[in-house]
Amino acid sequence: MEFALVALAYLNLGRCGLTDDGCDKFSGLKNLKVLNLPFDNITDACLAHLKGLTKLESLNLDSCKIGDEGLANLIGLSLLKSLELSDTEVGSSGLRYLSGLTHLETLNLSFSLVTDSGLQKLSGLTALKSLNLDARQITDAGLLALTSLTGLMHLDLFGARISDTGTNYLRCFKNLQSLEICGGGLTDAGVKNIKDLTSLTLLNLSQNCNLTNKSLELISGLTALVSLNVSNSYITNDGLLYLKPLKNLRSLSLESCKVTASEIKKLQSTALPNLVSFRPE
Ligand SMILES: *[C@@H]1O[C@H](CO)[C@@H](O)[C@H](O)[C@H]1NC(C)=O
Ligand SMILES: *[C@@H]1O[C@H](CO)[C@@H](O)[C@H](O)[C@H]1NC(C)=O
Ligand SMILES: *[C@@H]1O[C@H](CO)[C@@H](O)[C@H](O)[C@H]1NC(C)=O
Ligand SMILES: *[C@@H]1O[C@H](CO)[C@@H](O)[C@H](O)[C@H]1NC(C)=O
Ligand SMILES: *[C@@H]1O[C@H](CO)[C@@H](O)[C@H](O)[C@H]1NC(C)=O
Ligand SMILES: *[C@@H]1O[C@H](CO)[C@@H](O)[C@H](O)[C@H]1NC(C)=O
Repeated sequence: MEFALVALAYLNLGRCGLTDDGCDKFSGLKNLKVLNLPFDNITDACLAHLKGLTKLESLNLDSCKIGDEGLANLIGLSLLKSLELSDTEVGSSGLRYLSGLTHLETLNLSFSLVTDSGLQKLSGLTALKSLNLDARQITDAGLLALTSLTGLMHLDLFGARISDTGTNYLRCFKNLQSLEICGGGLTDAGVKNIKDLTSLTLLNLSQNCNLTNKSLELISGLTALVSLNVSNSYITNDGLLYLKPLKNLRSLSLESCKVTASEIKKLQSTALPNLVSFRPE
């Protein structure tokens, strides 16, 4: 059986109810490049069987019962490009085992236990392009620890508690194409530090309820934007004029603002022909 499967490169066993008992079979799959085990009933004991899979490029452990010490088994997997650890019990201490994975391009730590103090351990992972830190305990201090990651293109801080101060560090990420900061701590002053990130195509600043039309004015120079969400804010119909230069905009969400569907439709017909999806509608 193991002999027959040794050439296997891609294995998807997500949501299969896999337990640690079945994991010893993995050690024979020396050519595995992609292993997907999300939502399985596996613990750190399972990861011990992945140690020799040195060709692995992508590992998905989303919502598994993995903790800090399990990650020690990943130290030798130096070709890893993508690692999913969202909704696991991984915390700051476990991140030390990732610091040598210098090919890592995508790392998802959403809803993990990682805190600001652990993020320094990621500062050498300069190949990172996509980082998800959607977790309430992440704050400005965590962002400061990441400023060496200048190649980041996608940064998800959806629920993180980022304030205007923290937005100063965003200037280091000149290649950002998508950014989500929805923890409620931003005002127009913070958006000033976002206005020069001209590669942005997706920006989600929803749930920062103190943002006003001033923020739309600041955003008006981000002409690459395809998708914009500033829902749950003080933005009014008067502010919509600032969106006219955003000719690439396809999706606009201004829900729970003082903005009406009829005014967005006017904007669409006079200035934004590419707008196909908007709220309120
Ligand atoms: C998960 O695995 C543990 C031990 O391997 C076992 O006791 C438990 O019943 C399993 N739970 C589910 C939902 O399969
Ligand atoms: C990270 O994980 C969350 C939760 O599973 C998921 O919604 C999100 O799409 C993932 N993000 C990335 C960039 O893969
Ligand atoms: C938003 O405005 C309210 C009311 O003025 C204020 O209490 C709150 O601190 C402000 N939030 C931020 C993040 O500045
Ligand atoms: C945030 O807004 C962007 C742009 O509209 C959207 O693509 C993304 O799905 C939103 N994220 C969440 C979690 O709603
Ligand atoms: C905007 O973001 C909110 C979350 O804050 C989300 O519920 C909504 O679906 C997003 N809108 C779009 C169009 O992505
Ligand atoms: C924008 O909204 C504010 C209230 O938040 C309002 O005072 C102002 O007149 C609006 N219009 C423009 C063009 O900024």
